[in-house]
Amino acid sequence: MTNLLEISNLNVTFETRFRSVTAVHDVSLSVAQGESVALVGASGSGKTVLGRSILGLVDEPGVVSGSILFDGKQIVDRNEDDFRDIRGVGVAMVFQDALDGLNPVYSVGSQLSEILTVRLGYQRGRARERAIELMLQVGIRDPEGRYNDYPHQFSGGMRQRICIALAVGMQPKLLIADEPTTALDVTVQAGILRLIKKLQTETGMGLIFVTHDLAVAREVSDRMVVMYNGRIVEEGTTDDVFLRPQHPYTKALLSAHPAHAKSWRDLEPIPEEFVTDGPSSGSQTVSAIVPTASIG
Ligand SMILES: Nc1ncnc2c1ncn2[C@@H]1O[C@H](COP(=O)(O)OP(=O)(O)OP(=O)(O)O)[C@@H](O)[C@H]1O
Ligand SMILES: [Mg+2]
Repeated sequence: MTNLLEISNLNVTFETRFRSVTAVHDVSLSVAQGESVALVGASGSGKTVLGRSILGLVDEPGVVSGSILFDGKQIVDRNEDDFRDIRGVGVAMVFQDALDGLNPVYSVGSQLSEILTVRLGYQRGRARERAIELMLQVGIRDPEGRYNDYPHQFSGGMRQRICIALAVGMQPKLLIADEPTTALDVTVQAGILRLIKKLQTETGMGLIFVTHDLAVAREVSDRMVVMYNGRIVEEGTTDDVFLRPQHPYTKALLSAHPAHAKSWRDLEPIPEEFVTDGPSSGSQTVSAIVPTASIG
């Protein structure tokens, strides 16, 4: 069986006049259909750059070399048009910063509809219906009423959910979720993780879940890949990595982490009523009010 994604000997180097940073160093990694891989590692270890390289979104002056086979087709060195075909329906990404994925000048409903019309060929009316369905699915209350609201009118958590709706609405074969919950309150986080997991089970998409939170990694993934300084230093089934970490960095990571114990499944979902989603001042503050008693 061919893997959905097969990365071999991938390098991404940022060359500037004064220095050269190899953000991704000889990385090989594969993801099977329906498989869920957690990509963990400290800040700056290359997780985002690796994710973006799969979408052809490595920023200037980054140079990508090596091989990325998606669905058996080589995507390194393809042109922008080819990537346009791959993005969305092939690979979708939920970005680390929710604002990255949304256009501030269009309402969220129209952005969702637009993508369904343009990418999946939906008729206008059907696209609107499906957009509303998706908003509901990711936990936006009164999606019809909020259809014409702009991104800044939603809280950070809600924007992140809308990004997830945009991504999964495309029915991608592979979803890359880059720290989709980092900025969010733990209870909101738990809801989003459950949602991604549920959608994955339903659609059978492959998942690369980027996180620095080991408890989260453990919950969402079948397999875990640990990056350090641009390299993969450890890889295995999630249970194995937790039980028998091999690399000193992984050991340190695990021992530094109290969350063997705590998992997001232990957290109670908060009722929507407690999530204030009122007009935000344009700041990125997540305005969820959480009953503190639920966090032990
Ligand atoms: N456009 C760029 N120009 C120069 N260097 C870059 C660029 N983008 C990323 N890098 C460098 O690549 C390395 C890896 O960055 P990356 O964002 O992938 O880390 P990360 O693992 O996602 O970290 P975090 O957990 O903080 O999100 C870093 O050293 C970063 O400074
Ligand atoms: Mg990152």
